[in-house]
Amino acid sequence: MRVLCVCLGNICRSPTAEAVLRALAEREAPGLITAVDSAGIAAYHVGEPPDRRSIGAARRRGYDLSSLRARQVAAEDFHTFDLMLAMDRANLSALMRAAPRRARARIDLFLAHAADLGVDEVPDPYYGADDGFDRVLDLIEAGARRLLARLREQGTAAPASQ
Ligand code: 4NP
Repeated sequence: MRVLCVCLGNICRSPTAEAVLRALAEREAPGLITAVDSAGIAAYHVGEPPDRRSIGAARRRGYDLSSLRARQVAAEDFHTFDLMLAMDRANLSALMRAAPRRARARIDLFLAHAADLGVDEVPDPYYGADDGFDRVLDLIEAGARRLLARLREQGTAAPASQ
């Protein structure tokens, strides 16, 4: 299973999701997710490291975002990845509009399986207060757990031909 996490700028939410999902998958479900990456809908920050506020909030929870660099979603992503997970509905709509007819990837919200959280979007923290970055981490850590649980269920339930 190859997973691409997607937000608007690829400097706050999706690099956070990439690092959290990678760490959790390695620790709790080795072999289930073989690749995790992230990308942005927009090109504003291509080549830049994550926002310093995201790097700091993640570091306080043990995730290192400092080596990540922003990139924009590319046409081949729809064929390379099995799952493209959008942080909010605007990102989701943009991915749906850009998806080719024969895309390999399933496109969904990152929090699609986290209904118990009471929200299905990870809000954009870029123009907000610093505690927005902790909220992003709370939602992404919880969402990543729900996602792994769902993928495990699907993995065991899938027919042999898939
Ligand atoms: P992200 O946050 O989508 O979580 O990376 C944003 C980063 C930059 C901008 C917007 C959102 N921006 O407008 O530059």
